Amino acid sequence: GSHDPTSLRTPIVAVLGHVDHGKTSLLDKIRGSAVIEGEAGAITQHIGATAVPLDVVSSIAGDLVNPDDFDLPGLLFIDTPGHHSFTTLRSRGGALADIAILVVDVNDGFQPQTLEALDILKRSQTPFIVAANKIDTVPGWNANEDSPINATYEAQSDRVSSRLDESLYEIIGNLSDEDFSADLYWRVQNFQRNVGVVPVSAMTGEGVPDLLAVMMGLSQRYMKEEMEIDVQGPGVGTVLEVKEEKGFGTTIDIVLYDGTIKADDQIVVGGMNQPIVTDVRALLQPRPLAEIRTESRFEKVDEISAASGIKVAAPELADAMAGAPVRVVRNRELDEVVDEVEAE
Ligand code: GTP
Ligand code: MG
Repeated sequence: GSHDPTSLRTPIVAVLGHVDHGKTSLLDKIRGSAVIEGEAGAITQHIGATAVPLDVVSSIAGDLVNPDDFDLPGLLFIDTPGHHSFTTLRSRGGALADIAILVVDVNDGFQPQTLEALDILKRSQTPFIVAANKIDTVPGWNANEDSPINATYEAQSDRVSSRLDESLYEIIGNLSDEDFSADLYWRVQNFQRNVGVVPVSAMTGEGVPDLLAVMMGLSQRYMKEEMEIDVQGPGVGTVLEVKEEKGFGTTIDIVLYDGTIKADDQIVVGGMNQPIVTDVRALLQPRPLAEIRTESRFEKVDEISAASGIKVAAPELADAMAGAPVRVVRNRELDEVVDEVEAE
């Protein structure tokens, strides 16, 4: 690529959809992890964040992408809960997104939280693709682990592939009912005008190369200008969770979506009663591919730029709130930053 990667922001990809349609499983497949196994009843109850570096994206996508075509540093995936009671978390996840993946179970089709997620994307005008998940559950499916979709399609009997087609066209019809013109992703020329549907299986990895290739292409082509921000500016983010961390007291897990945060920065965080003004004590970065929700081995860093998920240790965080804004003060007027946090 022709751009300096340090001046480009990692796109934030929100993963949205109805409960149990396979959002966390899909991310587990990409991460090579098993976050779902640690979840009570396999129900996601918090927003998660995982940084997936470009080399991992391109190794999974294989021949479908040429890494030289990309100069974005990778993708930051935001996992959201699909259970109906977590509407606030879904909107919060959606609000952070530059682009999104709407996960739909091919057998279950559109469900209430699918529509709710679609509404969030519509209102925020977030570009998205649809991952039609669990294709391996089509009766008679012949699984081809980690295969791109066209190869595994060809390996199915006519009966099986037409059964999958029926489910896919139903999803395309549902999207059209919601005023989105959609088609199977390989037929889409202009992803700005049409929603691409990518058949996948989080279980077997089939179609996952296609999903990542489409996401990279989409973010590179279409997000490029928005990603060229002043990554050296004072950081701005959102609190995902307030947590006790051994040796650090109360910490906040945040998604930083703009600028940089440094280990000696003064920050303002939205609190229960009023904005909290405090000094960063430590910045704790999850390892690449680690889910911040479940990570136990953080690396202490001096600074980090958007977009990233990062744990911030600082005094006075007991009253911080999930969903609250976080802003770095640095060379700005403290009063002005406090006002901004209060207004959000
Ligand atoms: P919430 O976070 O609670 O909204 O659920 P989720 O969308 O994250 O779904 P999750 O990944 O927890 O998966 C729900 C169930 O579907 C689990 O039992 C998974 O093993 C199963 N599952 C997910 N993807 C696939 C798939 O592609 N194929 C099959 N056969 N099962 C899947
Ligand atoms: Mg989940």
